[in-house]
Amino acid sequence: MISPIEWADDRVRLLDQTRLPAAVIWLECTRPEEIAHAIRTMQIRGAPALGIAAGFALALAAVASPDRSAAELLRTLEAAAGDIRATRPTARNLFWALERMLARAQQAGGDPASIRRDVVAEARAIQQEDIQTCRDIGRHGAALVPDPATILTHCNAGALATGGYGTALGVIRAAAEAGKRVQVLVDETRPLLQGARLTAWELAQERILATLITDSMAGYCLQQGKVDIVVVGADRIARNGDAANKIGTYPLAVLAREHGVPFYVAAPLSTADLSLASGAEMPIEERGPEEVRTVLGTPISPPEMPVLNPAFDVTPARLITAIICEAGVLRPPYETAWPER
Ligand code: MRU
Repeated sequence: MISPIEWADDRVRLLDQTRLPAAVIWLECTRPEEIAHAIRTMQIRGAPALGIAAGFALALAAVASPDRSAAELLRTLEAAAGDIRATRPTARNLFWALERMLARAQQAGGDPASIRRDVVAEARAIQQEDIQTCRDIGRHGAALVPDPATILTHCNAGALATGGYGTALGVIRAAAEAGKRVQVLVDETRPLLQGARLTAWELAQERILATLITDSMAGYCLQQGKVDIVVVGADRIARNGDAANKIGTYPLAVLAREHGVPFYVAAPLSTADLSLASGAEMPIEERGPEEVRTVLGTPISPPEMPVLNPAFDVTPARLITAIICEAGVLRPPYETAWPER
């Protein structure tokens, strides 16, 4: 199983996801600014992986800082957290991890050495816990997968998007591990092709049967009865269950409802933002126009063509059959379904 980000010898190694599947290239980061750059350019991406990267960015800031007092080091960490907060706005996990890291640094108190030790330990714990969380999500979700099943998924919510194992792909992996006969329809996921480049790559490595479709083919497949369930990840989930995920997720939920197919969101509780009453309050990232005007760097439109490029859309809770998290399977009404934390 791939883990896209690792901590070793006070450095962070990350798998450059902009180069997959053509090249498997590991980058080494020693400064938090390098992690910020990797997040912005999507060398690392996927909500839980962004949380882990945020944690490691603060760990790098701590070990690299020459600060001699606890107060100075805490200020350095606050500044690094500010830079990471400004990278990508939608994935809740990134902000959740920063809050957790800063709280741990403040509790460490005393001297800079204990703060450094504690923040590195906390960042590593965030990663380790995420792997177990994904396995729990997989276990709960696998029970919902029919046998045999064709599962439609969007974007990449796999090992590459997490500490390892994946959320939506974790459900698929766990169902396959349980002996269910699963096959996957993989949406290519324009503009950045996370489905075609990353999910297809992961499923091939796992030897799980998969077929690639363009995003525009999903309606045809559902209409033809080729899909048993839809499973996707999430970047942020509001208290009422509205869920932001990669652009193109919402139309899949509408199609699933039209065709009577269950639509599941698989995500850790760290993706839930219970301070938001609904999806209307979610910050949706708008990315640069080149991502739409090009495919893998090749222009496909007039160079100055105006474009829209929202990176996420929000699926209303009424279209979500259930939310699969590490605590189990949550059913509507979601407001009252969240476990105590
Ligand atoms: O823009 P990305 O590639 O970071 O978007 C990723 C997604 O939308 C994933 O589905 C989501 O983060 C869940 S990852 C387990």
